Amino acid sequence: MEFTKYADHRKPVTIAVVGAGLRGREYARLAEQSGRGRVVAVAEPDPVRRSAFQQAYGMERSSVFEGWADLAAAPKIADVAIIATQDRQHADPAVRLAGLGYHLLLEKPMAPTEADARRIVDAVEAAGVIGAVCHVLRYTSYTRALKALIDEGRLGELINVQHLEPVGWWHQAHSFVRGNWRNSAESGPMLLTKSCHDLDWLAYLLGGVPKSVASFGGLAHFRRGKKPAGAAERCLDCAVESSCPYSAKRLYLNCLEDDDLAEWPLPAVTPFRDRDSVLAALREGPYGRCVYDCDNDVVDHQVVAMELADGATVSFTMTAFTPYEQRKTRIFGTHGYLSGNGARLRLVDFRTGASETIETGDSVVAGHDDGDDGVVDAFLAAVASGDPALIRSDAATSLAGHRVVWAAEQARLTGTVVTLS
Ligand SMILES: NC(=O)c1ccc[n+]([C@@H]2O[C@H](COP(=O)([O-])OP(=O)(O)OC[C@H]3O[C@@H](n4cnc5c(N)ncnc54)[C@H](O)[C@@H]3O)[C@@H](O)[C@H]2O)c1
Repeated sequence: MEFTKYADHRKPVTIAVVGAGLRGREYARLAEQSGRGRVVAVAEPDPVRRSAFQQAYGMERSSVFEGWADLAAAPKIADVAIIATQDRQHADPAVRLAGLGYHLLLEKPMAPTEADARRIVDAVEAAGVIGAVCHVLRYTSYTRALKALIDEGRLGELINVQHLEPVGWWHQAHSFVRGNWRNSAESGPMLLTKSCHDLDWLAYLLGGVPKSVASFGGLAHFRRGKKPAGAAERCLDCAVESSCPYSAKRLYLNCLEDDDLAEWPLPAVTPFRDRDSVLAALREGPYGRCVYDCDNDVVDHQVVAMELADGATVSFTMTAFTPYEQRKTRIFGTHGYLSGNGARLRLVDFRTGASETIETGDSVVAGHDDGDDGVVDAFLAAVASGDPALIRSDAATSLAGHRVVWAAEQARLTGTVVTLS
């Protein structure tokens, strides 16, 4: 593949943000903070978000668009486009903007279907632009340290891996019961919208995608049949709200007292950090609904069993019913055992019996740590230098990981073992 249209490496890379929502705003902030990027244009239909973004970056009216189609209809205005629209709105802007010569930083999942994800890969390759997908886990210090240990052969031959994604009880309720990723027809299955990160990350660590997969799982708890006696349709009207672990009132009012929770998840509920605004949003909006009375259908627990080409086996579990924490991984090799909690790695060497602990600098609290900065920095550096090798998650690589997700979903829904071609 040949990359032709590079930015001038002496100047910051200029950026058009498509979708000034939670992720679009965060990437814009990180790009400016890195010193490598300058945000020059935005496409966003929501007038409040659009005007706040315009003001934050002091943009001319001519650089502000009501949607990606208007941006695409205008003369090329930036070196790159950050596509941070919702999952089903990635493929069309990605294909059009790549065709216009924009390098792409694209949110995951690429698209809900393989056909759309492949359209993106084809468009990026045909245009000769750089296309990075935001698999932020590949870019953390923790992952760097873990992969180095594997690649140095410290564990010998890898025989088996166990990987856990502890989604967290309130995070599940927020995003996957009441929120944007609750319904597979509107966004995609949980394994795609959340755990495509994990299947991509396992492929990155292990050096390839599995050859066959099986999967089980379902929606065990967040359904009408589990609604407690006396519960109302909304938490603000509910007689048993105070004894419910998923109380929206407790979750979102607590966000007012906590700076981290005020950054996320509160802005998904209301743009304002005050009690009256939160209560108004819970009275009217989707986040005030009873978790047993929503239009959700995505799973709250799922396991995937995988076999690699060399016979190594991998098991992955995602579950809602945990604290909100970093992922946990155990790797079993012929020369060593490794466990990791997203921040700290412990390696036992079978030749000496010695145990070594490595602090990677990341946090045990859930979040993206330096992964968000890492993907933005690598992408902007790749564009500025014209070196696509600086990104670790190009579009074709991401598609390969998504194909494992779709195969696992097929396996779960049909009760079969699916072999990947
Ligand atoms: N990498 C990660 O770890 C990670 C984490 C969370 C979310 N995501 C993904 O990021 C994406 C965005 O999530 P979010 O939470 O920021 O969502 P969001 O709903 O806050 O933001 C999406 C924005 O796109 C805007 N939009 C809608 N139509 C548009 C159009 N035609 N042109 C331009 N903008 C348009 C919406 O108005 C909205 O402001 C999703 O695909 C999500 O799955 C990724």
